[in-house]
Amino acid sequence: MSANSSNLNQDTIDLDRLHAAVKREKQDLQPGAEPVPMWVIFLAMVVAVIAGGQLGMMTGGWKFETANPFLASTPLDPRPGSGADAQTADPFQTAMKKGSSGYAVCGGCHQGNGLGIPGQFPPLAGSEWVMGGTERLIRVVQHGLVGAITVKGQGYNTPGGMQAFGAAMSSTDLANVLTYIRNSWGNEATMITKEMVEKVRSEEKRSQQWTESELAPFAEKNVPGEIPAGPGATVKPSV
Ligand code: HEC
Repeated sequence: MSANSSNLNQDTIDLDRLHAAVKREKQDLQPGAEPVPMWVIFLAMVVAVIAGGQLGMMTGGWKFETANPFLASTPLDPRPGSGADAQTADPFQTAMKKGSSGYAVCGGCHQGNGLGIPGQFPPLAGSEWVMGGTERLIRVVQHGLVGAITVKGQGYNTPGGMQAFGAAMSSTDLANVLTYIRNSWGNEATMITKEMVEKVRSEEKRSQQWTESELAPFAEKNVPGEIPAGPGATVKPSV
């Protein structure tokens, strides 16, 4: 070989080396082994996230609303929902259901529609006695009421008044019925709990029915412990 050809060879070797290096770095694409396009990877990730969420929901517990960090600042509505599990789990719905059957003892006088009987039994629908202070309401049902009273601008003075229910009904039953009458026929107010009824019971020492003037100091008073319930609950919890 001449010097020239040796030079040429040198070049050829360099080129071969270069090719080899390039081949090492970037191997020939074989059919079926092409790199996956970006959009396919992206789509797969989106599918995985959604499918994972669905799986989580189906297998219980996991919810988009609670797991979504963008919704985290939106407080979950504490008021009763309408779904199947709200019916069973929500204390308000439970109280309403039990209160509606407990109301049978009141309905004979105040009527199923809560409107009472004019001149005889005052209405509970729209009554300030029902939706006002929870302390007066609990006391009325606990020990009854007698004498002249005014409800929605109408005077009532039914002989004998209303009997006491405190002895006949448990605190839970009373609480449920009161929650029911505060949230039926268009009434919207906070729940009354068993604890609230018990608190009034423990403070109330009397054996005769209340009169309107005796209860006046409690007309706007709320027993601590109310929780908001029902759409647009109006009575603010007292402290
Ligand atoms: C036997 C009939 C009778 C029954 C049963 C009865 N009430 Fe009454 N209720 C009355 C009468 C009469 C008055 C008005 C008393 C007065 O004139 O002083 C009254 C007054 C009230 C008031 C205050 C006024 C108003 O209309 O808001 C409430 C609240 C009330 N009753 C709730 C109840 C609840 C709750 C029950 C069932 C646990 C019940 N009552 C059962 C006859 C009855």
